[in-house]
Amino acid sequence: MADLSVNICGVEFKNPVIPASGVFGYGREYEELFPLSKLGGIATKGTTITKRTGNLSPRIAEISSGMINSVGLQNPGIDYFIDTELPNLMTKDTVIIANIAGSTVDECVEIARKLDNTDVHMIELNISCPNVKQGGAAFGTSCTSAENITSEVRKATKKPLIVKLSPNVTSITDIAKAVESAGADSVSLINTLLGMKIDINTRRPVLKNNVGGMSGSAIFPLAVRMVWQTANAVNIPVIGMGGISSGKDAIEMMMAGASAVQVGAAIFTDPYAPVKIIDEMNEWLDSKNIKSVNEIVGSVEIW
Ligand code: FUM
Repeated sequence: MADLSVNICGVEFKNPVIPASGVFGYGREYEELFPLSKLGGIATKGTTITKRTGNLSPRIAEISSGMINSVGLQNPGIDYFIDTELPNLMTKDTVIIANIAGSTVDECVEIARKLDNTDVHMIELNISCPNVKQGGAAFGTSCTSAENITSEVRKATKKPLIVKLSPNVTSITDIAKAVESAGADSVSLINTLLGMKIDINTRRPVLKNNVGGMSGSAIFPLAVRMVWQTANAVNIPVIGMGGISSGKDAIEMMMAGASAVQVGAAIFTDPYAPVKIIDEMNEWLDSKNIKSVNEIVGSVEIW
């Protein structure tokens, strides 16, 4: 068996596969299916300072080769997360990444301060949610605001800080460089692409929010391209995501330059997807006689 372990910002992952924020809740539904210790890590649902009920329904719809969502950051708030969900997660022998999704810089700073006093392993700052009017992508679509929020959150915590980037920008590499200069230890990308689906019979958008974030295998080549560009533009580790649904996809994403991968929409069609991806990666590496997954990171040979 190949060695699947990776080290990101000094944190040891037993393998590079992490369910993405928003698709895995706090793991409770999935631990009935498989031990969470099989996973490299878990990125938890984006937390705001207080509870949010999210956007009005319908807020999820299927599209060709993927889905579109406008959940609107439904979550129970940081205090509930720290008091009720985090203690359970911290017993699971996997890396726990707390995702922060505040509406203002001050809110993100306050959440980061609270998390800094916990045992959580890493923080992922979401500056890329396309489904809320305040915060989210509003931070992540200009270099100045991305740099500003990163540097304020950086001051609030010593935890390894991952910044989650939006693909809905002209140059994701410029945003990545901005957050790197502001103290991010890693970047994760891509969050969803802003999309729209219309029911032609009712002439209404299928989502009550009209638009939403598109994910799933349809976006995979876009994600690979952006991960490759970003990995070549920054000196911090890149965590790749966007449409990964097989071990071969994960290998491809790592060849593009990702040091680890997050799995999102695939989990909605197959809750075992992350575990299958780990097994498939192992099989592929063994079939090529590659001893460590680290050997493939950034190994694409450009024409
Ligand atoms: O609407 C949502 O909760 C999605 C968040 C995100 O894509 O970051």
